[in-house]
Amino acid sequence: MIYTIGGIKGGSSKTTIATNLVVFLLQQRRKVLLVDADDQASASSFTDVRSQLHEATGYELVQLTGRTLHQQVFALAGKYDDIVIDTGGRDTVSQRAALTVSDVFLVPFAARSLDIWTIDAVVKLVDEVKAVNANLRSFSFVARTDVHGNQGSAWREAAAVLKEYPSVEFLEQVVGNRVAFGNAVARGEGVLELKPADTKASAEITALFTHVQQLTK
Ligand SMILES: Nc1ncnc2c1ncn2[C@@H]1O[C@H](COP(=O)(O)OP(=O)(O)O)[C@@H](O)[C@H]1O
Ligand SMILES: [Mg+2]
Repeated sequence: MIYTIGGIKGGSSKTTIATNLVVFLLQQRRKVLLVDADDQASASSFTDVRSQLHEATGYELVQLTGRTLHQQVFALAGKYDDIVIDTGGRDTVSQRAALTVSDVFLVPFAARSLDIWTIDAVVKLVDEVKAVNANLRSFSFVARTDVHGNQGSAWREAAAVLKEYPSVEFLEQVVGNRVAFGNAVARGEGVLELKPADTKASAEITALFTHVQQLTK
């Protein structure tokens, strides 16, 4: 399965989602390639930290950008069970190239108006890519939201807007704004690896990715 984590907004937690997805897949004993397609190279920094603090990263990393990205990913695809492509927060040539070879497009949104309003541009991007990759499944969900007990009003307002765009399927699974996510990244880990565990962050990540796997298998 080839996953692209993207969107057109910076700071929406793309790299956090990408690295947590990699760790989730590793725990299923899958062979994973992480593609850093962002000039800011956050996924590479994460991997550097991980290789310093851990015996082995458990996955391979490659930096690929530009319009030939899809050819390079395509050439590598046979060697891995899953490929996770972390893109930058803009509508870049790299992101478009990634989407032409992807099965799944995951678009996290922070529950803020300026972020949610970028859904129109994301839908336009998806519609254009689907002309060349009709099988692409695209999903939106809310990440980095304040979760007090149940899903709060910011989430409900964001969800109401995102649900209006069926070509990007809205996932109810939410990723809360939790220190565990920052702590895990700083240690080159996914929240599923944190000790002591953060049960809420772990449950959110497991619910989100399990649901995506069920929808796309
Ligand atoms: N669920 C979350 N809870 C708390 N902090 C988060 C969460 N997701 C992301 N962050 C923090 O927000 C910032 C941006 O996240 P990042 O994953 O780098 O976003 P992007 O890749 O979209 O630019 C980072 O400092 C990250 O640690
Ligand atoms: Mg990033």
